[in-house]
Amino acid sequence: MTTLIYNIQQLVGVRKENKLLRGKELAELPSVKNAYLIIEDGVITEYGEMQNLKSEIRNLPAGRQGPKFEVDVTGQFILPCWCDSHTHLVFASSREEEFVDKIKGKSYAEIAAKGGGILNSAKKLSGTSEDKLFSLAWKRLEEISRLGTGGVEIKSGYGLSVEGELKMLRVIKKLKEKSNLSIKATFLGAHTYPMEYRENHQGYIDLIINEMLPIIAREKLADYIDVFCETDFFSSEEMEVICKAGMGHGLKPKLHVNQLNSIGGIEAGIKLNALSIDHLETINNDEIGNLSKSNTIATLLPTAAFFLRTAFQPARKLIDAGCAVALASDYNPGSSPSGNLNLVVSMGCIGMRMLPEEAINAATINGAYAIELQNQIGSIAIGKKANLIFTKPIPSLAYFPYSFGTNLIDRVMINGEFIS
Ligand code: NIG
Ligand code: FE
Repeated sequence: MTTLIYNIQQLVGVRKENKLLRGKELAELPSVKNAYLIIEDGVITEYGEMQNLKSEIRNLPAGRQGPKFEVDVTGQFILPCWCDSHTHLVFASSREEEFVDKIKGKSYAEIAAKGGGILNSAKKLSGTSEDKLFSLAWKRLEEISRLGTGGVEIKSGYGLSVEGELKMLRVIKKLKEKSNLSIKATFLGAHTYPMEYRENHQGYIDLIINEMLPIIAREKLADYIDVFCETDFFSSEEMEVICKAGMGHGLKPKLHVNQLNSIGGIEAGIKLNALSIDHLETINNDEIGNLSKSNTIATLLPTAAFFLRTAFQPARKLIDAGCAVALASDYNPGSSPSGNLNLVVSMGCIGMRMLPEEAINAATINGAYAIELQNQIGSIAIGKKANLIFTKPIPSLAYFPYSFGTNLIDRVMINGEFIS
């Protein structure tokens, strides 16, 4: 099946070469004005300016490549789909009671210390079947794909037992198999210590290393390993031990560090050559300097900072220092009950002073790098999947993040097909 899309006001994020963008490069977002795009069997095969669209293509005979489908998108922009490199979208139920507690003045840490937070989600998940979890997560995937997300990373971490973690990872595996979205799985058994291991950290670390990891590796249930490195959660030394065990099974680290406190997670993450270190609400200049010299991507989650009323991540400082920055949603019931990357991009611009081009690059190509799918998604390139956001007619690219909270998406294409 061949699809020709024409009269595109602007085709955004067009890249001949793949490159993880750092520092000043993030502000460069190559585009073609008044463009056309050709898709064959779900893959981008050609694009260019309308004046170069060959007339034989306009009159392509049906046959060799199957029937032709033409779409006139006058006034509309086309962007590569968002690539959300950090979510926890498999969960059993929402936690709006904690949302109200937070309004009344309780902190995230206080709620967690009383058995709320992650433990609350773990309790709810233990009583929920694999099938039910799958159908809940499936609805969330449908929801985010309508909002323009084409690639997504999903973490475990609400199981906190051998059975619970495996249940979550099997749900993610099934989502990978059944969904058209490009999905990566991360094992986050070290999300928090279960109550019975509060005083026996080594016991839980042993459970992760000796019981969970071998099965996860054998059944190929995860691509990455994650640890929540935070005061009252996992120390940087504990994170190192767990990551090294995961790396022994071929799982690269993607880590939660410096959300609430700085306890050495950034240094440890860089030393581990983590693919990404995520959150970074608290980060000092020395840490920014070290990160800029590393291969590790700084993944920023502005909606989590917004929801928890903490300071936004210092995107400007990170970019100006030459870091590679990605933006993601952190979709989870406790700190970011939204997987809307359009809002994340707007918040990157509004709360973190990212330029629209920087925020869009951070949520597309750099997001793809943060889950190692840069050869398939994240930009408009020949050979990549036709995962595309079609905007409603808009006057400029900046209008897209500027109009925060307004749905400016007309339709979304995944693997060359419009989703309903
Ligand atoms: O990324 N901080 C740790 N994990 C999640 C929140 C999990 C939860 O509260 O359920 C986060 O913010
Ligand atoms: Fe998270």
